Amino acid sequence: MKLIQKLALLSAFAVTPAFAEDAAEHPGKAVYVTCTACHQPTGLGLPGIFPPLAESEWVNGPAENLIRIQLRGLMGKITVKGVEYNSVMPPNSAMTDQQIADVLSYIRSNFGNKADAVTPEMVKALRGEVGKPMLTAADLIDPAKKEDK
Ligand code: HEC
Repeated sequence: MKLIQKLALLSAFAVTPAFAEDAAEHPGKAVYVTCTACHQPTGLGLPGIFPPLAESEWVNGPAENLIRIQLRGLMGKITVKGVEYNSVMPPNSAMTDQQIADVLSYIRSNFGNKADAVTPEMVKALRGEVGKPMLTAADLIDPAKKEDK
């Protein structure tokens, strides 16, 4: 085989897996860009300021909590992985049901998390929450109560 043919073959191999990875990329990854300024691309958050999504009991808890946080925002004290935060997360209610479902499914299956996917139908069912006052942790289902999942 001529050198030029070898090079062509090598570059084909080098390029193909990258394309394959892109095609298989989770649709929620693109939506997650709207979260990274605070929760960071790693999902680890910023210590003391923005809570982690990685291995968070909230992310792995009832999906209803996560949908409502996106639709109404969240403020006040919340404990995540044993650390208390007291800040504000603005709502993302301008996103479509599909985008919210995708981003929540993405965070529930990445960063070491293992929870069921969220469907657009689940988001649609809670659309009535939009416009209600911002949530506090007290309004949410306690993720320690696993039977509510
Ligand atoms: C402007 C910063 C900011 C952005 C952007 C943001 N969040 Fe948050 N998020 C916060 C803060 C701050 C809290 C904790 C609020 C509190 O202290 O009551 C929080 C809490 C959470 C929680 C519950 C606690 C935890 O860590 O498990 C989840 C889940 C969450 N955010 C998901 C998301 C997702 C998904 C996105 C993107 C679609 C997003 N957030 C965008 C700042 C942000």
